[in-house]
Amino acid sequence: MLVALTRAVPQSISRCELTHLDRNPIDIELARTQHHAYEAALSDAGCRIERLPAADELPDSVFVEDTAIVLDEVAIITRPGAESRRPETPSVAAVLRKYRELIFIESPAILDGGDVLRIGRKVFVGQSTRTNAEGFRQLSAALIPFGYSVQAVTPRGCLHLKSAVTAFSDDGVVINPEWVDASTFKGMQLITVDPSESSAANVLRVRDVVLCAASFPRTAQRLRGAGVNVTMVDASELAKAEGALTCCSVIVVS
Ligand code: GLY
Repeated sequence: MLVALTRAVPQSISRCELTHLDRNPIDIELARTQHHAYEAALSDAGCRIERLPAADELPDSVFVEDTAIVLDEVAIITRPGAESRRPETPSVAAVLRKYRELIFIESPAILDGGDVLRIGRKVFVGQSTRTNAEGFRQLSAALIPFGYSVQAVTPRGCLHLKSAVTAFSDDGVVINPEWVDASTFKGMQLITVDPSESSAANVLRVRDVVLCAASFPRTAQRLRGAGVNVTMVDASELAKAEGALTCCSVIVVS
């Protein structure tokens, strides 16, 4: 059974953190409608949706991915790189305790889940404005005993590692090679984003379904051409908050 932890779009979303984008008005009702459709797509893909308590006063709280990394053996509760986001983690930990033993990332480490890409037993960790070398060190110390290899990667020009690359299969990634060095993933099947769709590398694989953002049809077509079972999801409003598809859930195998 798969459980997808999600959290409602907060009333304060218009005050979200922004790193690479200018602030543009967010239609909160449309954002909520799109978020419901995202949850429905996860449900159709086989997930039970478990909603975390709403946190209207925390502007980025819909982006639950950044608060936790859940593996079969353990869950890591992060220490988000943006100070405004640190109060998001206790409510996530309270729920994840039902499913896993927890390990907490501690100061001076910072680590966002959006910087952590797991492909099988390999874990790639973005070194970004949100994840520092101590975050990488603490995550490595937590995961190596379980047999994971952990590798630091430096994305450029984007918020998180998973803005630049995500997995669409056990050995395939969709990647924007302008934002991360493609040689890091040599030996895997690489599908590059369409050049007109720089933010299209963030896809969300759930079992045999891959969710792609509706704003990036050309990259989705590349995936379909490779035999990938693609479901399109419109996430345009939360994209204005620098949130993408993986950002809005934490998937737990229960
Ligand atoms: N607004 C998404 C983030 O900065 O974490």
